[in-house]
Amino acid sequence: MSKIAVAVLNRKGGVGKTTVAVILAEIALVRHNRVLAIDLDPSRNFSDALGFMKNYFRSSLRVKSTLEESDADAPEEWIVIDCPPNLEDASRLAVDFADIVVVPVRPDFFSLSNLGVLYSTAKKSGKEKSQLPVVKVGYDSSVMTKIANQLITERDYPVAEELPLHKHIPYNITSGRVWSTGLIARSRQPYERLYDKIEKAVGRLSNGIYDINEVWTDRKEEDAEDADI
Ligand SMILES: Nc1ncnc2c1ncn2[C@@H]1O[C@H](COP(=O)(O)OP(=O)(O)OP(=O)(O)O)[C@@H](O)[C@H]1O
Ligand SMILES: [Mg+2]
Repeated sequence: MSKIAVAVLNRKGGVGKTTVAVILAEIALVRHNRVLAIDLDPSRNFSDALGFMKNYFRSSLRVKSTLEESDADAPEEWIVIDCPPNLEDASRLAVDFADIVVVPVRPDFFSLSNLGVLYSTAKKSGKEKSQLPVVKVGYDSSVMTKIANQLITERDYPVAEELPLHKHIPYNITSGRVWSTGLIARSRQPYERLYDKIEKAVGRLSNGIYDINEVWTDRKEEDAEDADI
């Protein structure tokens, strides 16, 4: 398997970046991969959230707060980078470094309005738009969701997955009980799918296949169900 470097980024705060980063790291560890977790946000939410997992997974999980070029030679199979809610130097370095940049978006205009800048920044790093798939967080049947969906379609943003809102997540993350974030197996499916798609996408990239859009759109109808809100 090729090494996978994934960054989670949106200039908008509070959209679910750290939560996605934590769960991807956890899935990687559960599947017996070693993980290098890089927390670029000075608020240290990612490092704090991983504290519990560190006790359990020990040497399989390494946590640091800076990203260096030499991390490309890290022994870990998965590198998960949690970014601050900005597009300053650290975030730009992460965009440059990562194979895939996951972009969580809530159904509001503000979490979508800055994406143009993110995509043009990524382009300068030689990244295709398809390497920065959007992940919808908490999209429901509201009018705001309809408007947000319209924007996503008009702007042709690749959509990797839809993550429903779960009442367990804020409680378990903030109380440090990160293990499985309190999600039952079925509720974890969208995160597992996202993980699988990232692996598949990076596999393609490492084989020189740059058209990875179809990896994101590969979605089974029966999985598109609502969650235990
Ligand atoms: N799928 C979800 N279901 C329910 N709550 C969620 C979900 N994802 C994130 N949250 C909650 O939303 C809040 C913000 O999430 P998170 O800290 O992951 O966002 P962030 O983008 O990393 O924020 P920041 O920009 O401040 O770093 C947290 O309370 C988190 O528990
Ligand atoms: Mg965060």
